[in-house]
Parts: sequence; structure tokens; C-alpha cells
Amino acid sequence: MALKITVIGTGYLGATHAAAMAELGFEVLGLDVVPEKIEMLTRGEVPMYEPGLEELLRRHVAGIEGSSGRLRFTMDFAEAAAFGDVHFVCVNTPQKHGEYACDMSYVDAAFASLAPHLKPGALVVGKSTVPVGSAQRLAALLPEGAELAWNPEFLREGFAVNDTLHPDRIVVGVDSERAEKLLRDVYAKPVTEGAPFVVTDFPTAELVKTAANSFLATKISFINAMAEVCEAAGGDVVKLAEALGYDDRIGAKFLRAGIGFGGGCLPKDIRAFMARAGELGADQALTFLREVDSINMRRRGHMVELAREAVGGGSFLGKRVAVLGATFKPDSDDVRDSPALNVAGQIHLQGGQVTVYDPKGMDNARRLFPTLGYAASAEEAVRGADVVLHLTEWREFRDLDPEALGAVAGHRVLLDGRNALDPERWRAAGWTYRAMGRPAA
Ligand code: UDX
Repeated sequence: MALKITVIGTGYLGATHAAAMAELGFEVLGLDVVPEKIEMLTRGEVPMYEPGLEELLRRHVAGIEGSSGRLRFTMDFAEAAAFGDVHFVCVNTPQKHGEYACDMSYVDAAFASLAPHLKPGALVVGKSTVPVGSAQRLAALLPEGAELAWNPEFLREGFAVNDTLHPDRIVVGVDSERAEKLLRDVYAKPVTEGAPFVVTDFPTAELVKTAANSFLATKISFINAMAEVCEAAGGDVVKLAEALGYDDRIGAKFLRAGIGFGGGCLPKDIRAFMARAGELGADQALTFLREVDSINMRRRGHMVELAREAVGGGSFLGKRVAVLGATFKPDSDDVRDSPALNVAGQIHLQGGQVTVYDPKGMDNARRLFPTLGYAASAEEAVRGADVVLHLTEWREFRDLDPEALGAVAGHRVLLDGRNALDPERWRAAGWTYRAMGRPAA
């Protein structure tokens, strides 16, 4: 009998996972406690911008013409428990307000709601990023006959569909052969296509995720530290990163210097990791992550100072600042802990007249920072600006015409916070182009 799957939580992770499971051929029931989300998903609409996800969803949501009908949604935990053999828990684990630790309340609530209804033999699979030790604690909450596995998720926003259907690796923390076998059945297709299947215990599975994100954050902060030194010494961090990247042991990825990392994962994951290590008495092992975090946060302040210099070195009062980009990365509408919006907000608080444009993040940005100015296009944002800040590297910004923008800008001064634009093109059109960690001209 084919396995039936439920996915608890339908955010970036859960919605993608549910659609991907249907694509792999399983009958899937997605659950969320937010009625608007369930209504949208049931109509085949995605509550966020994620390339390819709506198409994938529409291929499977029951009731949509031509769909496989394998994917449905509910708000009812009893229905989900009765339906599923394998239950993936994909709820959010944000940073606690005013603390480094991770907020486990959504995970705890999901387990508390699901557990009393579980069928004997049910497998609950945690996918959320959690402090190490959580799986063992949660396993004890499950009823007799149900069991737990931990299967961290490594998807990147903007590539969520591809990362889920074609993962680099599948990691499962299990404490029974039966759980391993069920997960091998679930992931049979990607494994056949070559994805390594790593079987381990609970704590190691939980740690793989936080260690991976810590390593990625460290790599970004490393190159941003090099950018600081380059600026002091007159070097060029883009050339430096290129030359470093040719060494296979280092690798070229995640060496893009700029205003640093943000989003719903890397910043909160390294902080939660430090907090958890402290609880375990291993805080010394992770003191370097404090430095990774502070290098990263310094980048935002540094961009504000570059902008101040560009408008004359004094106050921002009366100065018009155009901000291109609001999301924490391109190909996403996510503005959680976005370096771009943080920089825009700081300049606004210091009296600057800030106008933001982003291809997909405008609604979310407006909700988070209602007092900033917003424009309907890059050109409108740049009109009359004393300085233009490029803070999220959308393709659309790379394709902008420097001549046309120059004609509407107040001053042709561009600060590239992502080292993603072509300095020669902008300089040829009469712009003063300045980037982080590169010589001024
Ligand atoms: C990350 C991990 O990559 C993913 O494996 C995990 O599952 C979730 O967290 P995501 O948050 O989607 O994914 O974004 P990612 O592509 O990692 O970028 C994070 C931030 O780092 C962005 O703000 C991005 O702009 C920044 N970044 C990335 C850099 O500043 N420089 C780089 O070289 C790479």
C-alpha cells in the first residue's frame, strides 16, 4: 500500500515539501492553523513568492483542472492524524523576542495537537530547524506505537522547488530500522537519482542543519572581514574572492562580499546555536559565531556610513536616498531580517528621505516599515536621488540602463552593496560607482 503523507505547517518549507511529495507520487494532506493560507493553497495559490512553486502546486491540488488531485489541505489535526502514515512537521522556529534562543512554541503546539490522534505505527518526522536535544524531548511526547525521526531541510528560498526535488543530500536521524525504511521509501526517487542518504542519530541530524548554516554564515562573514581589510589596504575583495575560489578546498560559492546575510534562517540559526551550546556547557566552542554575527551586523552600519559620505558627510536631513532592493536576497519576497531594509530604516531614522523599490518584496516591506517611501519602479525611486543604494541583487537591477537612470537621478552616485553590478558600465555613463571592499575608482 502506498504511503500517505501529511505536512504540518505550510510556510516556505511546508508548502514546498507538500507539493514535492505529491510530485513524487504520494497522496498528501497539508495542514496549517491559518485559515487564509489553507484557502489560498486550496485554490492553488501560493501565499509567498517562490519561483516554480505555484506551477508545482497547481499540478497536484485536488479540484484544479488537469491536476493529479493528490494534494489537499486541512486545518484539522484529527483528520491529518487519521490520514497519514508519515507526518512531516515543517513549522517555523523563529528567534525568541529579545533573546538569542529559538522559539519552539510552534513545534511544541504542533506535536501537542497531533500526538493524541496518532494511529499506531505513525511516523512523525521533524523538519524544522531546532536546538539539538529537541528530538529526544519531543519523542517522549508521542503516544505508544508512534515514533519520531529527524530529517533536516536544507532548501534555499528562491530555489526551494529544485532543492526539495533534487537535494544535495538527505539526512535522517532515526532510532529504529523501521523509521529508516519508511524514510527510504519516501525518498526513493531522489536517492535513485544520486542524492546521498545519510543515516544517523537524533542529535547528529539536528546538528547537521545548524552546523551547515553556521559554516555558510562564517564563509560570508570571512569574505566580509576580508572586504574590511581590502578597504583599509586598497585591495579588491571581488578579485580576492575569485582567486580564493579556484582552490577546490575553499570553493567559490558564498564568497560574495557586501552588506551581509539576512533572512529567516542564517542570523537566527547561529544565535540559537550559541544559546543552545551555552545551555550544554559548550559555549566556548562557538564564541567565533559571535564574531561572525558582529562582522555581519557591521556591514549594515558601514553601508549607512558610505551613504552618509556620498551625500556630503554630515546629516541625512533633506537628502534623497534611493534604495534598490528590499528582500534579504533576490528571487524571494521575504524581508525577514533583510539587510537592505535595515539600511533603509537606519537612514530614514536619521532624517534621510528614503524611497525603496523591490521587484517582489514591496507588500511585505510596506507592512514591516510603513513609514519608508516606496516607488513603483527603479526609475521612480531614483528620480531626484542624491545617492542610489543597490542592496539586493535582483536580475532586474543588473539590466538597468545607467544612461536612462542618470537622466533622472539628482546626482549620479551609486553604492553597490552586493558587488553585483558592472562598475565599467555605470562609470561609462558618468556615475560615481562605489562598492564595498573595492577601490573607490
Ligand atoms: C539558507 C541556507 O542556504 C539553506 O541551506 C537553509 O536551508 C536555510 O538558510 P536562505 O536563507 O534561503 O538559505 O538563503 P541563502 O541563499 O543561504 O542566503 C542567505 C543570506 O546570505 C542572503 O541574505 C544572501 O544575500 C547572503 N549571502 C549569500 C551573501 O551575503 N553572500 C554570499 O556569498 C551568499
